[in-house]
Amino acid sequence: MSPKKNSFLDFRHYQRQDLISLFQTANELRVSSDSHWKFKGTAALLFFESSTRTRMSFESAAWRTGLGPVLIDINSGSSLSKGETPEDTIYNVAAMDPKVMIIRCGSGLDLEKIDQNIKPPIINGGWGAKAHPSQALLDLYTLWRERELEGMKLLIVGDILHSRVASSHFEVFKTMGVQIAGCGPEVFKPQTPIADFKWFDSLSEGLAWCDSVMALRLQLERHAGAVFFEPEKFSQDFGINKNNLSILKPQALILHPGPVNRGIEITDDVFRDTRCRILDQVNGGLYVRMALLKRVLEGA
Ligand code: CP
Repeated sequence: MSPKKNSFLDFRHYQRQDLISLFQTANELRVSSDSHWKFKGTAALLFFESSTRTRMSFESAAWRTGLGPVLIDINSGSSLSKGETPEDTIYNVAAMDPKVMIIRCGSGLDLEKIDQNIKPPIINGGWGAKAHPSQALLDLYTLWRERELEGMKLLIVGDILHSRVASSHFEVFKTMGVQIAGCGPEVFKPQTPIADFKWFDSLSEGLAWCDSVMALRLQLERHAGAVFFEPEKFSQDFGINKNNLSILKPQALILHPGPVNRGIEITDDVFRDTRCRILDQVNGGLYVRMALLKRVLEGA
C-alpha cells in the first residue's frame, strides 16, 4: 500500500532532486525573516508519544507558514484517557478538515491504512521503531549545508536496532551517495540485511574510518525491560568523549538527533567541540519542516 502522493510517511515519493529542491527551499527560508506563503487552515498535530523537538518544530513551522497548529499530546488531556483508540482519535480529528496531520505514534498503528481512509495528508512525526523521516531529512540537510554528500562515510554509533531515525537514514542517505556504517555492541546491530552496510565493533576504528559521526540515544523505552547493554558499560566502550574525539578527522561533523543522554552517548566535551552540530540540526529542522509543509500543501 503506497501513501497518498502528498503524504510523507517515508521517502517513496522523494527522489534525489526532490531532496535537493527541499533543501534549497529550507536555505531560502533561513535568510528570509518570514515565509513567503500564507497558508490558511489548521495543522493537526497528534503526538501519541512524547516529543520536544519534533512537536515544537512542526508547531513553529505551522505558525510560520500561516497554519494554525492544533495539538493532541499524550501527556495532556484527551479522550484517549476515556478509552478512545488512537485510530479513532485520528479519524475524528481528520473529520475537522485540517490541511495536514502530523502524527507520532507507536509501530502498532497502521498509518498506511489510516492514510488511505482520510482526506488530509499525513506527515510521519516518528512511527515506533519503523521510521522518523523528517529527522532523517534534517540530519541530511545539516550535512548537505556544509559538506559534499557524494562519497561521504557516516558512522552511526549506538542503539541502531531500536532506532527509527537510523531506519530512515538507511532509506534515504544512499539516495544522496552517503555510505553508512554502524558501531556499537553486537546486540544493537540491525537484524535485517542492509545493502553496503559496514559494522565496527571498535569505536576507535569506526571514528578513524568516518567523515562524520552521529551518536544515537539508547532507546531504553523500546527495550521492553530487557537489559540489552548497561548504560555505564556503553559509555565506557562506545561513548564519544574528549579522549576519542581526537581520532575524528578535523573536518568531521558530529550529530545527535536528540534527546541526548549526557555522559552516556556523548560527554559535555562533545558539545564544546567546534565540529558539533547538534543545535544546528534543531535549527535546520525548523526550516526543513517549513519546506516540507510547503511541498505537502502545494503538492510535489
Ligand atoms: N529527535 C526527536 O525526535 O526528538 P523529540 O523526541 O524530542 O521529538
